[in-house]
Amino acid sequence: MSRGRWYAAIVSWVSTAACGGPLSTLAPAGREAEDAASLFVWMTVAAAVLWTGLVALLLYATSSTREITNPRTGSRLIAAGFLLPVTLLPVLLVFGLRPLARADERSSPPPFSIDVAAEQWWWRVRYAFDDGRSIPLANEIHLPVGAEIPARLTSHNVIHSFWIPALAGKVDMIPGRSTRLLLAPTRTGEFQGVCAEYCGASHAFMAFTVVAHEQQDFDRWLLGQAQPAREPANESAERGSALFFRHGCAACHAIRGTSANGVVGPDLTHVGSRARLAAGARPNHPEALIEWISAPSHVKPEATMPDFAMIGRSDLTDIAAYLHGLQ
Ligand code: CUA
Repeated sequence: MSRGRWYAAIVSWVSTAACGGPLSTLAPAGREAEDAASLFVWMTVAAAVLWTGLVALLLYATSSTREITNPRTGSRLIAAGFLLPVTLLPVLLVFGLRPLARADERSSPPPFSIDVAAEQWWWRVRYAFDDGRSIPLANEIHLPVGAEIPARLTSHNVIHSFWIPALAGKVDMIPGRSTRLLLAPTRTGEFQGVCAEYCGASHAFMAFTVVAHEQQDFDRWLLGQAQPAREPANESAERGSALFFRHGCAACHAIRGTSANGVVGPDLTHVGSRARLAAGARPNHPEALIEWISAPSHVKPEATMPDFAMIGRSDLTDIAAYLHGLQ
């Protein structure tokens, strides 16, 4: 392959490398993301047309083989170079403002809303209902396809940014004020959310899972999350439950249905049901739980949770069995 072809291959590979996968904005699964993706395509096409037109004019005007002697040709060239951007750019501006106006449009009252607070470095989630009920969760958001769910975004530490590339976003989470975003998934699937604003040592380990379900599946999931925690299912989990309280975990974590009601760390009532641990840092697995509990600082630099390296392997296995059983 010639050198030029190599360059072309590398450029096309690099430019399309991010066009798929769970973090792609070009595989939209939400109303706002669909608007953004189509805006991207139209902007790219229009920019290509404009660039091609202007370069063609430039080449014509500077071509050494032809001398422009007629002054009217010169004026026409200048007029064309002026008119092309002046007509095309306002059209793009209007086209680009349309999704902004649509961003908050809702066709029906939402069945519930979601509050998301950015912590260093995880996501505190709360489903809030009109009748005053609320369900505290963490690091995972589930949504019914077809619904338009308002999310209220806050932070009480530093600026974070809430971004689910396939659904919508990104919106800053600013201490002292709340921002909002409408989540309107258009197809089922599991997507990834990230923090898109540098917020400290573990910014890169601040992710979350988003699952869009059909309504029935969503209702089933929500019903499960609203329940108090399951009782330990076996002896190991029972020992793990006692160890959880003996080591003071309940001072920071809540497990609904038990006396654990700490609010510093994530709610663990259904921690076993989540896809990932520690805000996306590890897959949810007993071994990963053991690693996390014994040395959070290795998994997530500067995490607030202290290392529990003094707990023996067999006790850690029991605690992990208890937590993993909290489905
Ligand atoms: Cu939170 Cu970056």
